[in-house]
Amino acid sequence: MSHLLFTPVTLPTPDGHGLEVGNRAFVAPMCQYAVDDTDGVPTDWHLSHLGALAAGGFGLVVAEATAVEARGRISPRDLGLWDHDQIPAHARLVDFIHGQGRAAGVQLAHAGGKASTWPMLPGFPGTTVPAAEGGWQTVSAVDGPVLPDLDPAEELTQEGIDRVVASFVEATRRADAADYDVVQIHAAHGYLIHQFLSPLTNTRTDGYGGELAGRSRLLREVVAAVRAVWPDSKPLGIRVSGTDWDEDGLQVEEVASVLRDLVAAGQVSWIDVSSGGLTDGSTIPVGPGYQVPLAVAVTEALAEEGLGEDAAVVSAVGLIEDALQAETVLATGQAHAVSVGRAALVNPHWAAKAAADLRVPRSELPRAPQFFRARF
Ligand SMILES: Cc1cc2nc3c(=O)[nH]c(=O)nc-3n(C[C@H](O)[C@H](O)[C@H](O)COP(=O)(O)O)c2cc1C
Repeated sequence: MSHLLFTPVTLPTPDGHGLEVGNRAFVAPMCQYAVDDTDGVPTDWHLSHLGALAAGGFGLVVAEATAVEARGRISPRDLGLWDHDQIPAHARLVDFIHGQGRAAGVQLAHAGGKASTWPMLPGFPGTTVPAAEGGWQTVSAVDGPVLPDLDPAEELTQEGIDRVVASFVEATRRADAADYDVVQIHAAHGYLIHQFLSPLTNTRTDGYGGELAGRSRLLREVVAAVRAVWPDSKPLGIRVSGTDWDEDGLQVEEVASVLRDLVAAGQVSWIDVSSGGLTDGSTIPVGPGYQVPLAVAVTEALAEEGLGEDAAVVSAVGLIEDALQAETVLATGQAHAVSVGRAALVNPHWAAKAAADLRVPRSELPRAPQFFRARF
């Protein structure tokens, strides 16, 4: 049986060498709301969670949405890289992941108008944390609530936008200091960059609004500024919402055209295609592999410009839950890699089990030696 899923993949880099990742099963970033206090510093929980996924065989382990500035946290208990003091605990995570022979990534994020919400843990509402309980004023493309249940955000001025871009840059430098191999810019799920990209939430009339060129300007500025400080030996990734699932919202052709330019410019070399985040979600056709067609649209748009896997790796995500399903996505050329979220929370050893399911020879299974005696 073929097992493309367990062939290495190279994420291109500006220096031409690329980052070789041992297999094409990536971890989708997943918030753990597990920071003690509100200092953004990774804890033993993060080490245990990401460590298990590294031991479990995923080629690329990506740490959750990590805030580039404190006001960009989704919740007070998010990870951060807005401060120097956060670096050593990130470095500890990276060190463990590297020790398992895996690549380590971090998702750099700014939640914009979806910041300052309660952690998504049992017993908490999906609303804004009031100032009296540690919440803060959020920012977005325009004044007003990004979603009906949230408190109004404040429109970012040019100065505020510059601060956001500078925060991404500084967080990127810290990610490098922590020795992460890959940075993924979070441009999906209705967070700040997506709030600018989408006509649902961006009605600005200045150079950051209007047509796609204006709505994508913040993204393009962040990518260019981050790429300029991220080492040429390291790949830069991006996570997008391929669609808003709303006829008035962002469409996949628009997303693909922005991505095409970023890839052609040699700035972005890994694209993870998710969706949604700016509606109540009721129009999303959730089901096995439901976002794969969006990855296909992006892969094809890039291919039309002659931009294949050697220019950018496209990963599909969303209810890709078993080995044969993942293998089919790759074998049919729908994407070059898959990201796995919830199935990896059910079984952190998802990748090793998938390899066994695909009849990867026992000696080549991506297993921690400590677990080698166990048979699937
Ligand atoms: C607990 C949890 C936390 C998540 N946190 C993030 C996050 O930090 N950043 C992000 O881009 N997506 C986040 N997501 C979305 C996942 O990365 C993934 O795209 C989604 O769960 C669909 O993939 P799946 O069906 O394999 O789980 C989260 C999902 C879950 C279940």
